[in-house]
Amino acid sequence: EKGGYDYFMLKEIAEQPKAVADTLLGRIDITGRLTLDEVRIPGSVLREVDKIVIVACGTAFHAGMIAKYAIEHWTRIPCETELASEFRYRDPILGPRTLVVAISQSGETMDTLMALRHAREQGAKVLAICNTNGSTIPRESDAVLYTHAGPEVAVASTKAFLTQLVACYLVALYLGQVRGTKWGDEIDTVIRELSEISTQVGEVLGTMEPVRELARSLAQKNTVLFLGRHVGYPVALEGALKLKELAYMHAEGFAAGELKHGPIALIEDDMPVVVVVPSPRGRSVLHDKIVSNIQEIRARGARTIVIAEEGDETVAPYADHLIRIPATPTLLQPLVATVPLQVFACELATARGNEVDQPRNLAKSVTVE
Ligand code: F6R
Repeated sequence: EKGGYDYFMLKEIAEQPKAVADTLLGRIDITGRLTLDEVRIPGSVLREVDKIVIVACGTAFHAGMIAKYAIEHWTRIPCETELASEFRYRDPILGPRTLVVAISQSGETMDTLMALRHAREQGAKVLAICNTNGSTIPRESDAVLYTHAGPEVAVASTKAFLTQLVACYLVALYLGQVRGTKWGDEIDTVIRELSEISTQVGEVLGTMEPVRELARSLAQKNTVLFLGRHVGYPVALEGALKLKELAYMHAEGFAAGELKHGPIALIEDDMPVVVVVPSPRGRSVLHDKIVSNIQEIRARGARTIVIAEEGDETVAPYADHLIRIPATPTLLQPLVATVPLQVFACELATARGNEVDQPRNLAKSVTVE
């Protein structure tokens, strides 16, 4: 049942190109427009939405953080992403024009379920993004967009995360399309590039041997830090979460711009720091800022592990280890940038003798608050 892999997690990492392609299947028509009729929220309602709130936990929350960048950019609708476990306890402002998006692989996470119940009681519409047909969260929502990752068995979420991202992009692009925002041309281009992304995820998977080797060499370390900016920031958080849950190591993700406000004090000689570098095309200011961050931490002794786009030569002199990912539009980069971090955490866990599919103290679905 593990299809020749040692762990479900390895199998599920390898299945990501297919999971991504399957989640797009039937949702882009031949003219390159999105067709999300299955969501069954009328365009008239979607045009009236004046606020979007995303609720989720753990890895799904990181997908939601990335979705916020995409939704606000393509739709210009204010969007916030909140941990489901915090949401209902602060009396959030919700109404009939609020769209709440609940993201959950299992569809059974109690924190997320309670958040969506609260949202509906306040009159908000709830759209679920879910991987499990007929589970509680989609049943209790007004609408659902299923991710087509297939069953995810390993406790650590991998392919579900990539498909949650795809679903979030689809929602963002669809809202942009329905509302006719000024980014029409960009939306058309991104929809085309989204169709290529499964191939690019496959390319990344084909180049992971040096990442595995690097992971094994770090098995004795105590701490690994992760830095990113913009959509690279949630990717850094996700890289750190994978390492905590699988390798039981102290791992933290930071927004690179926050370094100088405190975390840079953590840097010690030879401490591994993974940096997710945004594309030098697109939002190039971000790129240049992160290159200075890499220089700053390296000057303080960090061992820099740099994830950067192919052809980005400016980072090479400051990278102790360079992991290449294919060029993508800025907002889509998490789909390729997360993959090396999953492989890294899985290999480190193995090297430390941990149970990869069943990390200690964790359960696949958390059905208590
Ligand atoms: C991390 C992980 C968890 C889940 C979280 C939400 O690898 O798997 O953080 O992402 O418990 O679970 P779902 O998506 O089922 O609501």
